[in-house]
Amino acid sequence: MTDLTFPSDFLWGAATAAHQVEGGNVNSDWWDWERNSGGRVQEPSGSACEHYIRFPQDIALLASLGLNTYRFSVEWARIEPSDGVFDVAELAHYRAVVDTVRAAGLTPMVTLNHFTLPRWVAAEGAWTSKRIPALFERYSRRVIEALGDGVPWYCTINEPTAVSCGAYMSNWGQPPSVVDTRLWKQSIAGLVAAHQRAIAAIHELRPGAKAGLAVYSVEREANAGGKPAEDYKQKVEEEVFLEGAIDDDFIGIQTYTRHYLLRPWIYAPLTRLGLALRPLEGFVVPRVIAMKTAVADTQALPGERITQMGWEYRPEALAQVCRRIARFYPQKDLVVTEHGLATLDDRERIEFIGRGLAALHAAMADGVRVRGYIHWSLMDNFEWASGYGPKFGLIGVDRETQERSVKPSAHYLGGIARSGQLDAENVPSAPLSVQRFAPTGR
Ligand code: BGC
Repeated sequence: MTDLTFPSDFLWGAATAAHQVEGGNVNSDWWDWERNSGGRVQEPSGSACEHYIRFPQDIALLASLGLNTYRFSVEWARIEPSDGVFDVAELAHYRAVVDTVRAAGLTPMVTLNHFTLPRWVAAEGAWTSKRIPALFERYSRRVIEALGDGVPWYCTINEPTAVSCGAYMSNWGQPPSVVDTRLWKQSIAGLVAAHQRAIAAIHELRPGAKAGLAVYSVEREANAGGKPAEDYKQKVEEEVFLEGAIDDDFIGIQTYTRHYLLRPWIYAPLTRLGLALRPLEGFVVPRVIAMKTAVADTQALPGERITQMGWEYRPEALAQVCRRIARFYPQKDLVVTEHGLATLDDRERIEFIGRGLAALHAAMADGVRVRGYIHWSLMDNFEWASGYGPKFGLIGVDRETQERSVKPSAHYLGGIARSGQLDAENVPSAPLSVQRFAPTGR
């Protein structure tokens, strides 16, 4: 027997994001973007999983699996539909969600912002607005006060990398999907400042709670020629935000796959040139990064096993990223706030969870301070630009009837959570499948 044992206070959970599951998020920038994206978004979110009204049963299902944590986000567009006007009924709604989570015996982890913004904030320039740090702090304070003292874990902003690159490097499908270096840099500054003000607010209002950033991260592999370009990407996609997380209590790790930079014949020299000619950096480098998928950088090698998103099937990427971020911040706790895959074959999810956890356990045995594993996602949902095609859920959702069906992978993860043990030698392996949906460029 080679059972791997996890700590008894380990967080075992599943995650959702408001816009992806609630439905009817009509005051948000994404609601408009879904209708006005020039074809970048495959279909509108519509009623999603109706989680806004069905949350009690979804939370009960999560608890019945044996998991102990629910990570979900509160929706700024509902809470502050216009500048300075807070909707007390919406704040009460999210308080009810927190209370339901707690009553089910679960630990709530609340994300203050998961991609979507109120329409009026977007109109002011979103994360590039000069007001954004103050606006985000004001909103965060209202939420923290309304949710009471029963939330021990807060994520401030979900994947600022996806937000800044997605909006201003154009190839991730986030609004407004343009290539604009000045705005890209401004958005990074806005995201970091907003994050830090939210962290300070949480520390002030809820000194017992743990607060952190949820960081987009991939395992990276580059050959020698690709190294300068890869280092630059690492810096602007990950480290600028890690540096901004200096006061965080934990870092949320969100890893799905591995990216390669093995054909650097155009990318690396141009990046080097861009870095050498500092004034040109802003012009050259972002355009080259935006071209990455087409020209040099690759998400999966030819013939490799891929997921529905076109990403390499690489569960162990999670542990590699945890090791890397533990080197950046040796004293900080890490929590896996997302790890998962889109697949039509649930056996692939079981294998993904088992292999990912085995690799994570090895990293922990080497001293990496991981406090929990939260799977993405609790249920099949609206996968942003890709619509409802990709299936990330532990629980299936029938889009016609809204009926939920618990998948075997949910029981598999729940069993590990209940026992705190993983039989690493007998992780069920799925038959190899090759499937491709609509690569989003990430
Ligand atoms: C995001 C989720 C998204 C998932 C899969 C993460 O980057 O936080 O909202 O659904 O990746 O693409």
